[in-house]
Amino acid sequence: MDQFTFWNPTKLIFGKGELQQLKTEVPQYGKRVLVVYGGGSIKRNGLYDQVMNLLNELECSVFELSGVEPNPRISTVRKGVEICKQENIDLLLAVGGGSVIDCTKLIAAGAKYEGDAWDLVIKKAFAQDALPFGTVLTLAATGSEMNAGSVITNWETNEKYGWGSPAVFPKFSILDPVHTYSVPKDQTIYGIVDMMSHVLEHYFHLTEHTEFQDRMCESLLLTVMETAPKLLQDLSNYEHRATILYCGTMALNGMLSMGYRGDWATHNIEHAVSAVHDIPHGGGLAILFPNWMKHNLHVKPERFKKLAVRVFGVDPEGKSDEEAALEGIGKLRDFWNSIGAPATLADYNIDESSIEVMADKAVINGEFGNFAKLNKEDVMAIYRASL
Ligand code: NZQ
Ligand code: ZN
Repeated sequence: MDQFTFWNPTKLIFGKGELQQLKTEVPQYGKRVLVVYGGGSIKRNGLYDQVMNLLNELECSVFELSGVEPNPRISTVRKGVEICKQENIDLLLAVGGGSVIDCTKLIAAGAKYEGDAWDLVIKKAFAQDALPFGTVLTLAATGSEMNAGSVITNWETNEKYGWGSPAVFPKFSILDPVHTYSVPKDQTIYGIVDMMSHVLEHYFHLTEHTEFQDRMCESLLLTVMETAPKLLQDLSNYEHRATILYCGTMALNGMLSMGYRGDWATHNIEHAVSAVHDIPHGGGLAILFPNWMKHNLHVKPERFKKLAVRVFGVDPEGKSDEEAALEGIGKLRDFWNSIGAPATLADYNIDESSIEVMADKAVINGEFGNFAKLNKEDVMAIYRASL
């Protein structure tokens, strides 16, 4: 195990009816609140009215930024920064999925930065400070509700990058599984793939003796795989929604990844795809991850075998590490197919013609990946295997 410091200051508030906690959280930060939300799902499911009623009860001055895109864009962030600066906002409140939260993070940091917020994404500057913000999460997927990362797209230049800073941990996040009942089946599936992919990104590392961390990762994967089919049969089941919601947060809030560095190449490869084609993040991961695994099996076959045996129930008897590992990768593919996740880039009408453009974007900062270093040829091979 390697050295680590764990620090996560986000107050996590979980359970039915917990939206009421806004009454104790919001007043700690002030009265001028910018509510950030997406394309309207919160208006259709009634959450918008509930939030606004509570803020009115608190006698807040409420400002709104709506229309945050899935794969949130810098153009929307800039509008939010403008509102914060002009209206002297005290607190931002993100009500939505990962995109709304990621957008809010950059608005919060951009409001405290003199230049253009995009500088913080491309690492021309570091976000030292940010306005405080809370979240009301409506979709189980990214873990953004309890981490300090954010992913923003520049649609003019077809770039999509992750950035982060300790300044952008949410102050509080309210997770009521009931708020996720209305998430449609496809988005529920993408979220499930995304949280599983976060665990897989952790799992592939080169540090020895991470027994407890491995068991935690395996436990999360097993729990999601056991729950997902039941949830997809019954999208308004409280207990299944709660399990998946909690797993999504735990998969990327730092709890599983102490003492080692996960790989994270597949996320980079996927971000390059959605930068060019604007596809859902979880959909892209479902296509790419098994092919990243096959491409890098040779680096440490015993690691892939461990996953295959412990999570996918592969019997290793009489098989080489590679054979057991490949069987496990096949079972991951089968599981994602069984819940209805996409399996090929063709599912999004992406063909050979954009492979090089996407690969160039993926390697813009050079070789990447902590478990296996990938160069442009590697990335192109993974895309090609995903056609
Ligand atoms: O915009 P609205 O109308 O709200 O609709 C959204 C959107 O169309 C809808 N939705 C959300 N909650 C709903 C709902 N529909 C009905 N009922 C509800 N309760 O779902 C659609 C997708 O929402 P989005 O926020 O885009 O999904 P997700 O949470 O998967 O976020 C994806 C974004 O997060 C980034 C991805 O790259 C992508 O840009 N990521 C962020 C990470 C982080 N900050 O740590 C890590 C991840 O790996 C990921 O890269
Ligand atoms: Zn992800």
